[in-house]
Amino acid sequence: MKGEIMKKWKTGRTEFYESAVSMGFYGRDDAGLTGKKDNVRKFWEDVFIKLVCRPFIENRVPANKKLRILDLGSGSGEGFELLTHIPPSNPQGNTNKDFILRASEIDKYVGLDISPSMIGQGRANYRDMGNVSFEYANLEEGLPAVVMKEKPFDIYFSSYGSLSHLNEDSLSHLMQMIFRHAAKGSLLIFDVHGKFSPSWPKYWNEKSIMLPYTMAYLLPGDKRNEEKIEWFNISYWSPEGLREVISRTAGNAGVNANILYMLDRSIFTGRHIDTGLLSRKPLPLRYQVSRLLDHGYRGEVEHLKIDLNHLEEFRDHIPLPAWERLNDYQKKWNKIIYLLEALMNSEDTKVKNFIENTDIELMSDDLKFITWLYRNADRFPVVDFWASIIGPQIAVILRNIEMSYSEGLGCGHGLICAIEVVK
Ligand SMILES: C[S@@+](CC[C@H](N)C(=O)[O-])C[C@H]1O[C@@H](n2cnc3c(N)ncnc32)[C@H](O)[C@@H]1O
Repeated sequence: MKGEIMKKWKTGRTEFYESAVSMGFYGRDDAGLTGKKDNVRKFWEDVFIKLVCRPFIENRVPANKKLRILDLGSGSGEGFELLTHIPPSNPQGNTNKDFILRASEIDKYVGLDISPSMIGQGRANYRDMGNVSFEYANLEEGLPAVVMKEKPFDIYFSSYGSLSHLNEDSLSHLMQMIFRHAAKGSLLIFDVHGKFSPSWPKYWNEKSIMLPYTMAYLLPGDKRNEEKIEWFNISYWSPEGLREVISRTAGNAGVNANILYMLDRSIFTGRHIDTGLLSRKPLPLRYQVSRLLDHGYRGEVEHLKIDLNHLEEFRDHIPLPAWERLNDYQKKWNKIIYLLEALMNSEDTKVKNFIENTDIELMSDDLKFITWLYRNADRFPVVDFWASIIGPQIAVILRNIEMSYSEGLGCGHGLICAIEVVK
């Protein structure tokens, strides 16, 4: 009898673990450092997109209006996740509201994608939500009929380079359909790949917009040998080129396209900065910033310092303002890293000199704040102060420097653009 019970008990217990293992719950958990959803994606790139969308969603008129959103090249609904997880700009008075747009405040979200697997995954992810749907569309042919029958959307949205899959003519055709379908005041917020990213200096001098790209960054470094990598063409945009297409297309559609901003995202933290596949020189910056953002790892200062010497040979291929932007950001970035190094080595005189002699007005507050944190380390009841407190804070400062440039010059991995349709 006792034996019987033991047998049953044991079987049930193992079954649970068998299925947990087969579902992948027991794989190595270092997802934050590499892969599709690494820390840079979650805490740098996603945050960047959320912050640039926030004012429009917070100030929607009339207040509490339910929003209609069309996601172009939606994948399995990442845009829905992004837009429904934007924290309020002023947490006071919003203590019960984590996010400024709840799923229930969306009248309709439609995701369009060319990939049946993405559509299938999106439908499965949101099967319980009546206001979310996914439809097949080849955006090269513009908006599909199923969307043209719909009322206008408040936001025509696209994230992580989906529209870089289109060539110039297809992008213009798609925009024209959007401008016609949109209502007065609708927004088009999207990103494409920037032409002058330090991840692909080989392309700076290319006349063609469409050039090869690979997602081999998702493979471990040792599996990234050239012959196994799959390449496909995508569009790399300069701000001037994109502005020209937008204004020409708006003219053809009989609307005014008010460009609210263009911004560079992931200048030194793009996916290909680490692979070196398009630059000849891998710099492990994205990996290192993902480490900084992880509460379990310290920053490795040696690998966080940026050296741009290898770009000198391409210097004549990039517009001067973009070149100066790369150098300005490099200088500010390295300043933060040198301070980190001095603090880690307890070089007090160096730290003092740094703070007193910084010629960069805006940064002296950042430097003082980091130093204050360091001097107050024992107030933080964490196991590893460098990994849990200083590292994430340094990464956020590096991100905020990037976000402080108010005019994109095409030197980020992504070029984010927001347009208001004026009718
Ligand atoms: C890099 S993923 C981005 C997915 C998602 N927006 C995100 O934020 O993660 C690019 C997406 O664009 C889709 N795509 C590529 N070419 C397309 C086309 N011609 N029409 C529609 N979708 C396309 C792909 O299937 C893929 O889901």
